Amino acid sequence: MNENQLGNYPYVRGRRLRASAAVREMVAENRLHTDDLIAPVFVMDGDNQKQEIASMPGYYRFTIDLLKKEARELYDLGVKSILLFAKVPDALKDNEGTEALNKDGLMQRAIRELKEAVPELLLMTDVALDPYSSYGHDGVVINGKIINDQTVEILSRMSLSHAKAGADFVAPSDMMDGRIGAIRDILEDAGMHNTGIMAYSAKYASCFYGPFRDALDSAPGFGDKKTYQMNPPNIREAVKEAQLDINEGADIVMVKPGMPYLDVLKAVKDEVNVPVSVYQVSGEYSMIKAAAMNGWIDGDEAMMESLIGFKRAGADLIATYFAKEVAKKING
Ligand code: PBG
Repeated sequence: MNENQLGNYPYVRGRRLRASAAVREMVAENRLHTDDLIAPVFVMDGDNQKQEIASMPGYYRFTIDLLKKEARELYDLGVKSILLFAKVPDALKDNEGTEALNKDGLMQRAIRELKEAVPELLLMTDVALDPYSSYGHDGVVINGKIINDQTVEILSRMSLSHAKAGADFVAPSDMMDGRIGAIRDILEDAGMHNTGIMAYSAKYASCFYGPFRDALDSAPGFGDKKTYQMNPPNIREAVKEAQLDINEGADIVMVKPGMPYLDVLKAVKDEVNVPVSVYQVSGEYSMIKAAAMNGWIDGDEAMMESLIGFKRAGADLIATYFAKEVAKKING
């Protein structure tokens, strides 16, 4: 071997490190672990019922009693964190999202009961007005505009109500300005020092939320969410949003959606020193499921490949509708 050949074929052959499952696994640079997973779950009113969401094959809304069992199953599979969303009946929706503050509302009851049934579970709750809004928007609407500061006021009281019911983390998904600081303030004032905030910091105005809006019947009644959610071409702005949220007291920041925004995830991860979460949203789940059901891709492989992509891009945590399936697979 002369000096010019150092570092070259055949002395270096990349394939030696790919020759067997054992060596591939040994040199894998990233791994999926159930500790990193957050399972989004949908709760609805009623008893002893689960309903499959039409546009999310294999995914269900549960009544509280059945959700307690589901949460226990998830926990026992190693998925120790859930993110709770409530499906609110139309009759309870109004422009101010009044029902969101009801201490005996579906969300608050679900929090209390889940916490009692599976106390060791980390319970995160979605904070936004859209499931409660007669307009299907994340904020109060006046003259066709989404009003920031009035919404922030409501979101902070909603967060306190979740915290009092027993939520470990609140997860504001609304993209109003200044809401993290307002939420932190109200929680501190109430002595809820240990209630965490997972901020949807870089949440894009995305078509990939379609099936979720089906799940909660929360699609906007007019217009779109482009005046508050982020514009897909932007990446520097995502870093700015994450930094602002951290300064306001966010414990965890999130990038959402996942697969089309891996570069954003990496950019945020490189710039911040708090855990970074990614949300593989409903449309991403449904695309994989639909293609798999048609026999066009291998669903299991697509699930694993998409999730390891998040780890490679720097995700500390992954919220995914595949949480249960992937946990079963990881546990073998
Ligand atoms: C509500 C909210 C949405 C999602 C999470 N929280 C929908 C939206 O912003 O329109 C989307 C989740 C998903 O698609 O899986 N603010």
